[in-house]
Amino acid sequence: MSEIENNISLENIEIELFLQTLKLCYGYDYNNYNFASFKRRMRALKNKVGVSSISEMIPILIHDKQFLETVIDGLSVTMTDMFRDPDVFLNLRNNIFPVLKSYPRIKLWVAGCATGEEVYSLAILLHEEKLLSRSMIYATDVNKKNLEIAESGIFSLDKVPDYTRNYQAAGGKASFSDYYHARYSNAIIPEYLRERVVFNHHNLAVDTCFGEMHLVMCRNVLIYFNTELQNKALNLFYDSLVRGGFLCLGTKESLRAFTQTDKFSTLSNYSRIYQKLSPDVIPLKEFD
Ligand SMILES: C[S@@+](CC[C@H](N)C(=O)[O-])C[C@H]1O[C@@H](n2cnc3c(N)ncnc32)[C@H](O)[C@@H]1O
Repeated sequence: MSEIENNISLENIEIELFLQTLKLCYGYDYNNYNFASFKRRMRALKNKVGVSSISEMIPILIHDKQFLETVIDGLSVTMTDMFRDPDVFLNLRNNIFPVLKSYPRIKLWVAGCATGEEVYSLAILLHEEKLLSRSMIYATDVNKKNLEIAESGIFSLDKVPDYTRNYQAAGGKASFSDYYHARYSNAIIPEYLRERVVFNHHNLAVDTCFGEMHLVMCRNVLIYFNTELQNKALNLFYDSLVRGGFLCLGTKESLRAFTQTDKFSTLSNYSRIYQKLSPDVIPLKEFD
């Protein structure tokens, strides 16, 4: 074996040991993440911490509880935007919300909500469709630091031009500036949008389902999982939905890993919107 190959396999062993430590000490299970992208993040974490090998982080992880947050944060990809993939929000507004209108109380779960931009986009949409006052959005993530930022409802004013464009493309009915207060370099989401959101720590790899959801959104999270974990998460979403409830995945994600293929119907292949099937529910027609 060449020296390079040897180093690579040693690195894999170090990653395995690190993963075991994370699971044994703290119950965080990253074993079923896509290994290639996980490895890139482990390397980035190693550089950020300033150690020369991944195994050097193992004793720190065991003895320093504060280090856990650095690890979880380092292992998360948190890229997000308001009204990311605006067509998806437009499709939700035009095709899914009219069905949600028939429920007296609407429960929505945003799994892997990162720093909250997707959650507040959904809240704005619900507000414009006059559904917010009877809606509750449960927003969850494995990364507690992300959740704190999300809960603060603050984002950078620099992002406003992009978010305004996205909002308009998502069929925005007002002016995007109606939905934040500017203070110094920050944009702050108003209380009436925030009060319909409950943020919770939840790990899709180990935690159980949320009950009776009408819409589950989990976008750009499954791409980081291997097939086994994707299947597990998709089962969790299936169990969390009411009969006829809706699932929205990221535009690069699908139900391919889901072993119970006959349990959802596809409503939008582009927007990755699916409906939970049940004998007493007539599924909506596919809309694109
Ligand atoms: C790329 S962001 C996606 C944010 C948002 N959904 C979007 O599409 O804009 C991925 C998020 O998934 C979260 N995540 C990763 N693994 C998770 C897990 N096992 N359980 C819950 N959230 C997880 C990360 O912490 C991160 O905030």
